[in-house]
Amino acid sequence: MENLNQAILNKSAKVNVFGMGYVGIPLAIEIAKSGFKVHGTDRNGWKTTALSNGENPLTDLKEIDINSLKKLAGEGRMTFSQEYDKNSDIKMICVQTPMFPDRRPNLTTAKDIAKTIGKNLKRGSLIINESTVAPGMTRKVIANILEEESGLKAGEDFYLVASPERIDPGNTVYTINKMPKVIGGLNKESLELGVAFYSNFIQKVVPVSSLEAAEATKMLENSYRALNIGFINEFAKFCDAAGINVTEVVDAAATKPIGFAKHYPSIGVGGSCIPKDPYYLISAGEEAGMQFTILWNAMWSNESMPYYTFDLLKKASKENNVKLSNAKVVIFGIAYKGDVKDLRDSPPLVLCNMLKREGIKTYVYDPYFSDDELKKMELLPFHPEKESCDIVIIGCDHSQFKAFDYKKLSGLKFIIDGKNILQKMHVPVIGIGIGNKS
Ligand SMILES: NC(=O)c1ccc[n+]([C@@H]2O[C@H](COP(=O)([O-])OP(=O)(O)OC[C@H]3O[C@@H](n4cnc5c(N)ncnc54)[C@H](O)[C@@H]3O)[C@@H](O)[C@H]2O)c1
Repeated sequence: MENLNQAILNKSAKVNVFGMGYVGIPLAIEIAKSGFKVHGTDRNGWKTTALSNGENPLTDLKEIDINSLKKLAGEGRMTFSQEYDKNSDIKMICVQTPMFPDRRPNLTTAKDIAKTIGKNLKRGSLIINESTVAPGMTRKVIANILEEESGLKAGEDFYLVASPERIDPGNTVYTINKMPKVIGGLNKESLELGVAFYSNFIQKVVPVSSLEAAEATKMLENSYRALNIGFINEFAKFCDAAGINVTEVVDAAATKPIGFAKHYPSIGVGGSCIPKDPYYLISAGEEAGMQFTILWNAMWSNESMPYYTFDLLKKASKENNVKLSNAKVVIFGIAYKGDVKDLRDSPPLVLCNMLKREGIKTYVYDPYFSDDELKKMELLPFHPEKESCDIVIIGCDHSQFKAFDYKKLSGLKFIIDGKNILQKMHVPVIGIGIGNKS
């Protein structure tokens, strides 16, 4: 342990980040900026080639520090390839941890990486799991594979840390180094090494007592969010039925200075974490012999929102004498949230595909995507400056959409505001849980 501790102190420890995605790229840059030599491994050669040339392979990940990447790659302080660095001292797992179609955790990739790392594991290395997993998986799955493949003993011959990534893509305030980092270790030595390492490039580290406590923290924070959003989505449906404006009620409730955090309803929840992570917790609960019924229902509530938005569309079409089968519908914003070019688990995309399946002429206007990019996804691009349409659906809250002049859309009959961002205007605006604003 002393050797690695010393190598961390004098920054001679070599770091290998596995997975050059939304998490791995900004993390690798931040580590290299702090003075460590970093190798980024990814199975996709086009990504590692772009990164080696100082280019961002993920055009939708705009907060990448491209100048630092260029400089560090140019100086050979950051290298990238499909291979891993056998000589590295610190190995970080940053690969995807998706779900199987039945919503159970799919750890195939994380297991593959653990096997790769285990095969050539040097004594005294530190392995860090940044990928989101359910409590117990870093120990029961990753540590086991590392031990089996290497013949070494976790905690004695190598060290193990879990520090689930918490970044929020597009957030320019809480950038990767400003987001406090929760760290759990397999044992005291692992934790000490983890804290010493992260303290070089993260402003605030939060040590916790075990791997499981760190993993469970990630589960709690994302499930808390999913749960609250699930409830407000359900509450919004009630507000629609009861003729109450949900935004007014949320804002009024928030005047209570204690015990209430604002959440707003919408067309649905997207991104790589909130629609998936709670299912990891639900699965872990089942293994522990219990059921997270409240969480399960919240997830169902969130997943129902694109369908609910479709119901609002059908209802509004009847009320406004628009025949949906003849109408031209345009979805404003296909990304999962505002001001990002990110389609992962995007609710407006779910709705778009639903409308297409029903044979409704559906177009997309999203300033973050070119016509060619939309066409490649079999989406029809819409050009507001020269085309007319009957219905607009606000799919995400890109800043442009609030200030957009909807009067210039000839033929527009009504708007479904899936993010409740628009004010009353010349045509009916139907929000989620706020009824008709006309
Ligand atoms: N994206 C986010 O906003 C976010 C936030 C917090 C936590 N997380 C979690 O972090 C983890 C990583 O997420 P992400 O969004 O960066 O995923 P991602 O899909 O963007 O990146 C994963 C990368 O790993 C690479 N990869 C896959 N198999 C590989 C292999 N065998 N060898 C080398 N590289 C391989 C892929 O090519 C890809 O580039 C997940 O567990 C996710 O849940 C993501």
